[in-house]
This record gives sequence, structure tokens and C-alpha cells, in this order.
Amino acid sequence: MTEQTSRPWWQDALIYQLYIRSFADSNGDGVGDIAGIRSRLGHIASLGVDAIWLNPCYPSPQHDHGYDVANYFDIHGEYGTLEDFDEMLAEAAEHNIKILMDLVPGHCSIDHRWFIAALASPPGSPERARFYFRDGKGENGSEPPNNWQSAFGGPAWTRINEDENDGQWYMHTFAREQPDLDHTNADVQQLFDDIFTFWFDRGVEGFRVDAVAGVGKHPDLPDQPPVGDDAGVLDVTWINPYLAFRPEGHDIWRRFRTSVENYVDAHPERELMMVAEAYAVRRPEIIKAFTEPDQFQQMFSFDLMMTPWEKTSIERAMLDPIAILRETGVAPAWTLNNHDIQRVVTRLGRADAHVPESWTNNNLSLSRADVDLELGERRARAMAALIFALPGSLYLYQGEEIGLPEVFDIPDDRREDPVFDRTNGEEIGRDGCRVPLPWTNDAATSYGFSTPQADGSVDGPWLPQPAGWGERSLDSVEAIENSTLDVYRTLGQMRSAHAVTQPQDAEPVEFGAGLVGVRRGSLVVIVNSTMAPIELDMTHEALGGAELVFTSEPGVATAPGTIPANATIWFTT
Ligand code: GLC
Ligand code: CA
Repeated sequence: MTEQTSRPWWQDALIYQLYIRSFADSNGDGVGDIAGIRSRLGHIASLGVDAIWLNPCYPSPQHDHGYDVANYFDIHGEYGTLEDFDEMLAEAAEHNIKILMDLVPGHCSIDHRWFIAALASPPGSPERARFYFRDGKGENGSEPPNNWQSAFGGPAWTRINEDENDGQWYMHTFAREQPDLDHTNADVQQLFDDIFTFWFDRGVEGFRVDAVAGVGKHPDLPDQPPVGDDAGVLDVTWINPYLAFRPEGHDIWRRFRTSVENYVDAHPERELMMVAEAYAVRRPEIIKAFTEPDQFQQMFSFDLMMTPWEKTSIERAMLDPIAILRETGVAPAWTLNNHDIQRVVTRLGRADAHVPESWTNNNLSLSRADVDLELGERRARAMAALIFALPGSLYLYQGEEIGLPEVFDIPDDRREDPVFDRTNGEEIGRDGCRVPLPWTNDAATSYGFSTPQADGSVDGPWLPQPAGWGERSLDSVEAIENSTLDVYRTLGQMRSAHAVTQPQDAEPVEFGAGLVGVRRGSLVVIVNSTMAPIELDMTHEALGGAELVFTSEPGVATAPGTIPANATIWFTT
């Protein structure tokens, strides 16, 4: 059923990242669900989307919103049932939209039956061998087995109850509710093979594979070298040479790829893929290692998501992934937003639009002060207009298409991200980009997020929505001419008409100070990163016979040959 193109579908797909909890709530309990997704498939299709990547929707106690999986073979009760899932998948297929799931290999939940069994079993038992259980150091083993730090703050080890148990510790790269799985264990290997089969059988076309950097550890678990004081609380994990980007991880990914290939061998009509998630900005050797032909088909290129709004940085962020494409044939998977990162409108709305090159940039030092949201939204549109032109696939994050900003107005006691608690509030966490979507301007239904219950009542959304959220809703922006939504819809069409038809390659073109230029076949794209309009030199050799086909600022009237401030334009030549 997959269309026959010269390239596998994922190489230039437009993919919509759907954070189910915050997308649409069909039964008024304040939590998004599968029926909510079904009710809004038309909107997703209107963007020209090829696939939806669903954030984890497996049964989970939600300590890290589904990234703590209690059962890999079912659907979380609040979201629906497997039958609901199957129906959603079939309905998406009617819109020619494929479904990708989120696979969490590094850890499961403390509620997973294996972890419960491990706690009930003695040290050295097969039940414990699926995880990293170790004796502590020091007197009575009261010190953690090593000095590793969790990516969510605090030690990467938690001691199990000393009174009832034996006082061993277990490792968790993330929250304590997310015990790490040991993939050298045969049960763990078999589990993931079974997961692939189970979801491929249901019609899922691939997986976004979570947090690959920390899966596979140095077998001896040695202490990590001391880190400088300037290392952020979360970075400490990712510079640990015994935990991050280990060669042992690649053995796991080869096994995963074998599982996928075996499935395809038995079902040759299927085109299945895996995209790896890790923060490898400015580290092309890492992307190359993960996308070797026997591992992932794709890995996220977060470069443009992490770049400041500045010509040379944008150029490098664009060209590094393209250089990899040239060398290896593996096309970039571009992203401007996801559920872990402050929304692009807010990031680029700061005067200096500075983004630290850390895997998380949600901390409070990036304050809400000095954010010009209108400016940020223009730059976000300009950035989108750049990635829509580039070779590779695009991952949009829900709400990006209506220009949602980061939400800062969440009371401390309503914050849910474990990062907030584990760092004692030092890191504000990621809730601000996960606030339930506004679909209408109707406050009584949480701005259209919730469909009322049978008695007409609506429970408040699981994360509070800020004042004015309804003015940013789909309905509200749909009524505005030249809105971000218009620009995204147009970009979807422009991309099919003028970008994906071009060769899978692009090269920089120099147009002058503050301008980022790129040529892809007969398409020429120019970003004006400055605060003023710039008159282009239309005699430039790249612009011979050029016809303007798109501007990210359709509402800004400019003289022909002039590119508005903080905007991107497309020419065909
Ligand atoms: C990835 C996910 C993030 C999650 C973490 C642990 O980075 O994107 O949301 O908290 O892995 O699974
Ligand atoms: Ca619901």
C-alpha cells in the first residue's frame, strides 16, 4: 500500500509529533486521548502530514508522562484501548497518514512486572539481572555503587528498602521511577524483538527510539571523571564517558535493526523505520555512527532547533547535517520543537535569541523577561520556511503550526515534570511546552481541548492553560489572514510542489551580511536574519530568471526584490 517513490517514504516525510496527553480530550476528564486524536485528524491532514509520531501511550504511572512504561503491549487506560488504537490507525490510513510509536528502550517503569519481580527476588537472581542492581559502597553499602548522576538531577542510583530487602541499589539514568534495563540480558533482548512484532503487526510503520545516548553502559560501571563546576545539572549525565554514547549501545541498535529487517523480510510490502533521538548537535561522528546501514535509518538533526538566530550559526546548523547526507546518503530529520525543549517562538523571541548548546534549555536562567513573542513568531516562521525547503524529513511538534509560545505561568504545585522536583526547582522543567492545546476560544471547554462529559461538566486540563490561551487557538488563528497557520499550510504545499521534487542535496549561496542563502536544484531560499528589510541584488548569478514563489511574511508589503526583516523567501529559477 505504500506509495512507490524512488526514496523510502521517511527520507522526505512531513511528520507531526503528537503529545497525546495534551492534544485533544474526548471525554472531559482533562487528559488527551485516542478518541481526541481521531476527532482532529482532519486538522493534521490539512498540514500535508505523511505520518504521526505518537509520544508514549503505553500503560504507565506517568512519572515521566509515559516514558516510564509499565507494559509495552497495551494502551494507557486514560487514553483508550488497543481497539481504539487500531481504529485510529485505520482512520489515519484513510488520510494517508502513517503512525510511528515511541519506543523507550533504556528503562521501564517501577510498575513494570519485571521490576516488581526483581524487588521481590534476591541479589544475583535472574529477575534482577534484567536491570542494573548493585551493592552499595561504604559502610553497610550505604553509598551509591558509583558517582553517576541522573539526567533529571541527583544520583543515578536509588537504594531499595533496607528493612524489607537487602539494600542493593538500582540504576536509573532518568527518574528513580525509570529503572534502566540491561540489554546484555537475553530476556530484555527478546522483549524488544517482541515489541517490534506486536506493533508492526498492528500496522505501525516505525518507531522514534527514545534517549539512545544512554542505552548500553561500560560493563564495569566505573566512576565518572570529575566534571567542572560549569556543567549544568543535566549535562553531567551526557558527558559521562561510561554512560553516554557507548560502543555497547551500538550492539543493541544492530539487534533492533535485525528485528526490523527480519520483519520486512517476512512482509516485503512494508517500509519500516526507526529514528534515533539523542542530542548530537555539532557532533556529526555521532549521527554517522547511529545511522550506519545496520542501525537507524534516521537520527534527529537538532542543530537548527539549538541554534541562536545568527547568520553563521544558522548556516552551520543547516550545513552540518547536509554534509552527512552527502557523505552517507542519510537525510537529516529536521526539528524546531519537541516536548523536551522550550518552544521556538519563545526561544527566538529573545533579543539575543541565545540558546545554550545543552540538551535541555528550559531552565529559568532563560527567563520570561525580554521575550518579544511577535518577533519570535516571525523568526519561527522564517526558520520553518528554511527547513521545509531542505532535503530530509521534518518533524513538527503539535502547536507549532499555530505559533504557540512556551508557557511560564504554571504554579510550582501544578508542575509535573520530574526535572522540576529532582532539581528542587532549579530547572523549571518541560511542562511549559506541554500545555494542552487550545482549539477554540471557549474557556468552558478548556479552549476546545475537552469535550464535556455526559452531564455537561469538564474537568480542568491536567496542566493549567494560561490566560489568553484561547486567542492563540486554532479557531482564532484560522480567522487571521497570513497567520502562522496559513504559512505552515502553504509551506506544506510549497514543499511538495518545489522542494521534494528537487535533488536530495543543497549548497550554500552567499547573498551578503545577515542573509543565509541555500540552493537546492532550481529552488533558492534566503533567510534575512536581521531586524531590517534588505534589498537583494537581483543580478546575483543564483537569481537569474528567479521567480518569487513564497514568503514567510505574506502580510508584509515589500518592494520586489526586497526581503522583509526576520523572514525567509523562496525563489524558483
Ligand atoms: C527522552 C524523552 C524525554 C524523556 C527521556 C527519558 O529524552 O524525549 O521526554 O523524559 O527521554 O525517557
Ligand atoms: Ca480524556
